Amino acid sequence: MSISHTLYALIFALPFLFPLSADAHSCSEGFLIEINKTKSINQYCRKKTLGAEFGWNFNIKSRRLDIAFGARLDAETGWLAWGLNPLGRQMVGTRALIGIKQHSGSLEWHKYNVTELTKRGCQFLPSDDIGINVSDFSFVYLEKLEYYAILATIFLPFEYNFSRINVVWQIGDAAAGSEPLMHANSLRNFDTAETVDLVSEKIVSYSAHYQRHLRTMMALRLKPKFNDKYRAYWNMYHHFLGYALLALISVNMFEGIKILRPAHAWKWAYIGVLGVLGAVAMALEVFTWTKFLLYRNSIG
Ligand SMILES: *[C@@H]1O[C@H](CO)[C@@H](O)[C@H](O)[C@H]1NC(C)=O
Ligand SMILES: *[C@@H]1O[C@H](CO)[C@@H](O)[C@H](O)[C@H]1NC(C)=O
Ligand SMILES: *[C@@H]1O[C@H](CO)[C@@H](O)[C@H](O)[C@H]1NC(C)=O
Ligand SMILES: *[C@@H]1O[C@H](CO)[C@@H](O)[C@H](O)[C@H]1NC(C)=O
Repeated sequence: MSISHTLYALIFALPFLFPLSADAHSCSEGFLIEINKTKSINQYCRKKTLGAEFGWNFNIKSRRLDIAFGARLDAETGWLAWGLNPLGRQMVGTRALIGIKQHSGSLEWHKYNVTELTKRGCQFLPSDDIGINVSDFSFVYLEKLEYYAILATIFLPFEYNFSRINVVWQIGDAAAGSEPLMHANSLRNFDTAETVDLVSEKIVSYSAHYQRHLRTMMALRLKPKFNDKYRAYWNMYHHFLGYALLALISVNMFEGIKILRPAHAWKWAYIGVLGVLGAVAMALEVFTWTKFLLYRNSIG
């Protein structure tokens, strides 16, 4: 059936044809107003995952980058991190600015080099030199919004290409003094890096996990308008779309499992469940087709 092939192709091609169409997340009005007050940041502003908002001004000539990165910190202690990574969209290698809300309510802020050791849970302490020139760095509470925000001015070194800069962020709710402790291990906490064009405001590339999520969402949103003449095709389309989505979701889950790295047993449990579901689907499919063919033969 050529139409189902066409639809298949369409489902998988669409996200690649319009990879940036989900890129319409401008900041909340409250945040825009507050950061314009606090640091006169009014050029660019974008909503990010983990409920964060990121505003910045950038001057190409001077390479001066003013940033405001805000989010709620709902637990009693917590930390908010924002950084640039010359190596890629990843945690390791990030030159990070981190603000910490202590149990006592006091705020502190420091610069950190995020390394492979940090990822492995070794001691994570501030460093004076993170390889970028940071000034006017502070961590403030925006009372009206109940947001905490990192404010800073960076003179972007020439080895950073401002039209494709890797921005990384994270939120955690535990700290020991000036050492931020491990963030939550949910998938949301891995959708926290992207490549941004500082001047056009375009997101050049999302995190790998977010891209997969986007692809699933795009497939779900695809609803062509057929008239009655194409009812049969429409049904067939739905039929195959269902299977395509199941396949996509299964792959996404495996990717999620890979990212979160749980105990080995989980993966096998998941494979078992998928296998059983596959067998049930197959049996139902055979049943449906047999019934359909028998019915057609009996009236034809
Ligand atoms: C930012 O604040 C300035 C001075 O208070 C004001 O004139 C300007 O309209 C504000 N801009 C935005 C985008 O809110
Ligand atoms: C942090 O990284 C910068 C840039 O690579 C390096 O110059 C600096 O020595 C590092 N600091 C520490 C404490 O490792
Ligand atoms: C940081 O940038 C400022 C402004 O351009 C400059 O005056 C200062 O010397 C720079 N510091 C370093 C360590 O590069
Ligand atoms: C920066 O990235 C853009 C877009 O990928 C590219 O066209 C440009 O040549 C790069 N500039 C430098 C100095 O590498």
